[in-house]
Amino acid sequence: MVANNISTLIAVRDVDALRRRIKAWRREGKSVALVPTMGALHKGHLTLMDRAQKMADCVVASLFVNPKQFGPSEDFTAYPRRENADFELLNTAGVHLLFAPDVNVMYPAGFSTSVRVEGLSGILDGAHRPGHFDGVSTIVTKLLLQTLPDIALFGEKDYQQLTLIRRLVADLNIPVDIIGVPTVREADGLALSSRNAYLTAEERANAPALYAALNTAAKFISDGGDVAEATATAEATLHARGFRQVDYVEARHADTLAPLASRAEPGRILAAAHMGRARLIDNVAIPQLK
Ligand code: PAF
Repeated sequence: MVANNISTLIAVRDVDALRRRIKAWRREGKSVALVPTMGALHKGHLTLMDRAQKMADCVVASLFVNPKQFGPSEDFTAYPRRENADFELLNTAGVHLLFAPDVNVMYPAGFSTSVRVEGLSGILDGAHRPGHFDGVSTIVTKLLLQTLPDIALFGEKDYQQLTLIRRLVADLNIPVDIIGVPTVREADGLALSSRNAYLTAEERANAPALYAALNTAAKFISDGGDVAEATATAEATLHARGFRQVDYVEARHADTLAPLASRAEPGRILAAAHMGRARLIDNVAIPQLK
């Protein structure tokens, strides 16, 4: 970690400058990690940076609030933007290169390509946010091809996103290892998210009920309980704890996100629910019977 005020982090805004830097590292035989972000960085992102530093010689963070992954009624305009503070955090964390392109660098006039992962894009969050995962798939594909890192790191908090990125990298033969990093939580269990900033004090106090309900459901299933009963109880608990809308609580196969067919399969419970202005998502593993 760099623990001083001297800036060692270099910021670039276009793809040629990004590639020039990476090419120079490659000539020195260095390995490269990419951590894609939309900024408004918190401890969860810094954990990704830290892990990246342990796994590669050079770390590139990208910062781009991707308009294509927000629906027309979603929070693209309100999404927190704190580029100067993010730069300082990345610099202190010892990240080597920040790629912060403008929208016309990523989507120049005439841009017409969309990457879609069939099946995975339309379920769970995709069913509630039409087009969201096409936007994610398109931007992540671009970032991977622009950077060509050895590894790219993503948080398990966005578990469906992580699953979809693993699928697209395999399908398109993109030569990168995708590393999933466990969710970072507040002491009371709430998963860190840039959108937690939307919660009022009262909503913030109730929000950890999401993680608690998922853990209860996961344990119930793992102990032999009925899957439908577990998820229905979790939904009812969330309503009782002030979530105004529950988009889904679902138990799925941990690798494919297909409905869980048996307890012998690796399972994951995923949920999305609205608390005030914030739409919160979370997921936990279903402990497997020994
Ligand atoms: O998880 C995010 O912050 C975004 O979806 C990502 C992967 C940076 C793509 O815009």
